[in-house]
Amino acid sequence: RIGELIRAQAPLADWPAEYFRVDDNIRRRDTLLSAEWPAGAALRAAIARGGEAMLAEMKLSNLRGRGGAGFTTAIKWESARRAECHAEADGRPAARYVVCNADEGEPGTFKDRVLLASYADLVFDGMSVAALTIGARQGLLYLRGEYAYLLPALRENLERRRRSGLLGRAVCGQAGLDFEIDIHVGAGAYVCGEETALLESLEGKRGIPRIRPPFPVTAGYRGQPTVVNNVETLCKAALIALRGGAWFAGLGTKQSTGTKLLSISGDVETPGIYEYPFGVSVNQVLQDCGAGNAQAVQVSGPSGICLAMHEFSRSIAFEDVPTAGAFMVFGTHRDMFEVARNFAHFFRHESCGFCTPCRVGTSLVANCMDKIAKGLGTQYEINQVFKIHRLLHAASHCGLGQAACNPLFDTLQKFRPAYERRLCSLDFEPAFDLDQALA
Ligand code: NAI
Repeated sequence: RIGELIRAQAPLADWPAEYFRVDDNIRRRDTLLSAEWPAGAALRAAIARGGEAMLAEMKLSNLRGRGGAGFTTAIKWESARRAECHAEADGRPAARYVVCNADEGEPGTFKDRVLLASYADLVFDGMSVAALTIGARQGLLYLRGEYAYLLPALRENLERRRRSGLLGRAVCGQAGLDFEIDIHVGAGAYVCGEETALLESLEGKRGIPRIRPPFPVTAGYRGQPTVVNNVETLCKAALIALRGGAWFAGLGTKQSTGTKLLSISGDVETPGIYEYPFGVSVNQVLQDCGAGNAQAVQVSGPSGICLAMHEFSRSIAFEDVPTAGAFMVFGTHRDMFEVARNFAHFFRHESCGFCTPCRVGTSLVANCMDKIAKGLGTQYEINQVFKIHRLLHAASHCGLGQAACNPLFDTLQKFRPAYERRLCSLDFEPAFDLDQALA
């Protein structure tokens, strides 16, 4: 039913009430979403500090990007603040931009949806704090196409902020402090979650990732210095403005400060959004969500890592198991080959088609998996998957292709019997020497 509503972009009134009660499922453990955060409080705190001091707080917090890669946010903001703006050929003023990446496309991730639905003011405060820090006058929120039903509520919120002086000219009565936010709705392409494809899309072009460097902080939207941050990152920045960098750095681990929202789904008793300080063990999370018989957890979605039972003592942190938020649990009754096959089809479907390795490679891999599923595969197909994995990793234009075989690679190593029992007996090729290949 939810799928139908998303596809039909149904108006809010048609949605079942339970759908919006997801934040009832946020497990609150001395963490950030447990309190009320009045609209504009973070922005006012940042204004009181001033841009340079706010940057110092961000450095102190050591906040790292919550979209998955974990790049230090203060470095991004500082680079954009110091970067030169360029004169625009069409007479537009040279300007810096803040972009909120709300193109949450990784399968199994839905934390940003909850933040946008239930904590929109925190998101907009985060964008405003970023703008104040880098000196931007325009913010753009790139909303995932499938989340278009959130648009009326988000627009209403922006209107409310304009009325209360939190947006527009002279924000909070500060002469010269102008900031506006526009929302741009994507069209459902996974690749547009990649920041430079997103920028292309914002500029009205086809969403093809750009070659980096230059990074968006120096040449982003319309070639101008641009900070692109994930929804959760901006929320955390707003909280840092309110409570300070030292408070934030006191949560989590030394290298991964603060908390992380996990979108927990699959074979668990209580799926939902959970907030944990970084450093929590996979075992602890499994215990809390009632995953009694897990054989695997796909962390960070198919682009991430598939953990088998012997790895459940590892911890969620950038220094161990990094994640954009997805935490998909697979019980012992699940067929891990079928899980990997499903992901192979996902990547074939979502490859943007721009570069040949990814366009052809993802297709070949999906075909190999289909052949094995039909009982017609041999060691040859498995070897092909390994070879294509290496090729995609080395030659793809962007992260989509580079990560496309990750779930297959992981499951082939950790759940090999799930593949082998499907192979037909015509085994005419020696097994791929993984150790040699990795060497
Ligand atoms: P990346 O490590 O190349 O970059 C991360 C961020 O740091 C970017 O904003 C980039 O502009 C910035 N950056 C990196 N080096 C910089 C430098 N020298 N100067 C200034 N800025 C710099 O990672 P990428 O390719 O942007 O993202 C990959 C991640 O995205 C993966 O970890 C993956 O898990 C995650 N992902 C998340 C999805 C989601 O729905 N949240 C979907 C698919 C992938």
